[in-house]
Amino acid sequence: MSHSNLIWLAPRESDHRPTTKQTILIVAGDIIRMENKCEKEKRVERMPVDEMTSKDYYFDSYAHFGIHETVLDVGCGTGILSMFAAKAGATRVIGIEMSNIVEHAKKIVAANNLDKVVEIIHGKVEEVTLPVEKDRQYKDDKINWWDSVYGFDMSCIREVAMTEPLVDVVEAKQVVTNSCLVKEVDLYTVKKEDLAFSAPFHLQVRRNDYVHALITYFNIEFTKCHKRTGFSTAPEARYTHWKQTVFYFDDYLTVKHGEEIFGTFTMKPNERNNRDLDFQIEMEFHGELSDCQESHKYKMR
Ligand SMILES: C[S@@+](CC[C@H](N)C(=O)[O-])C[C@H]1O[C@@H](n2cnc3c(N)ncnc32)[C@H](O)[C@@H]1O
Repeated sequence: MSHSNLIWLAPRESDHRPTTKQTILIVAGDIIRMENKCEKEKRVERMPVDEMTSKDYYFDSYAHFGIHETVLDVGCGTGILSMFAAKAGATRVIGIEMSNIVEHAKKIVAANNLDKVVEIIHGKVEEVTLPVEKDRQYKDDKINWWDSVYGFDMSCIREVAMTEPLVDVVEAKQVVTNSCLVKEVDLYTVKKEDLAFSAPFHLQVRRNDYVHALITYFNIEFTKCHKRTGFSTAPEARYTHWKQTVFYFDDYLTVKHGEEIFGTFTMKPNERNNRDLDFQIEMEFHGELSDCQESHKYKMR
């Protein structure tokens, strides 16, 4: 496809629902609207396609449509189209480029302060794994798998799987917010009753992305040693067998850089078996693209 052969698959009237979420694909300079899934998102206004000039399509179409979506720029070259998409309000832009110009694209995106929205990936589109796919794929493997197990509906197990925090490795690049301390325990002074606690949390979103889960981890410090020593089980730290703990939400949030997630994290030993842990996460988010106020219970055996 060439630049002059620009394709825009505009939604039909019947697709023009109040709640839409789209993924837009730019293929070596062409723009193709890929998906039109019904989601809890805001209305997308459109101008009649017949009235658009090719200039409208190329430069202004993002503005007309008010993009709040994910854009995939395949063959992004210097990243120029990725930056157009970001400037026009795309939630997230992923530029893929197989040639070495990719290193310039990364610098250009950073020089224009768009690296919070635009991620440039080096590789062939046929071979790279998209970060978005990875997060969703993980949840599909661990949770949504129960919806159809060799064709059988076992979704009642899915409900149980959802309430069990998952201990697994989370890559640092999958984390989209800062972290927030919920509890500090001093092993010299801690009392049994201190281990049942409730703490507020407040997270700041660092890039436009989707949030599927909350993650917990711990840091250890041996403060009485001659030489201060310790380690971290954070996603950005070296692997430990504690890995991280993932608390999935039923649905995901669409978040933008600078938005905030508030909530309360509660943990207590289970009353019947005090080696099990009961958790409750209350969460509140009011973003430009999604809203939620919910409470989830989890049980760790
Ligand atoms: C015509 S240039 C367009 C560059 C940029 N999108 C622009 O509009 O300025 C096409 C780019 O696609 C890249 N490309 C071609 N096939 C690709 C593939 N399979 N995977 C990733 N990049 C590819 C090429 O290396 C080249 O940089």
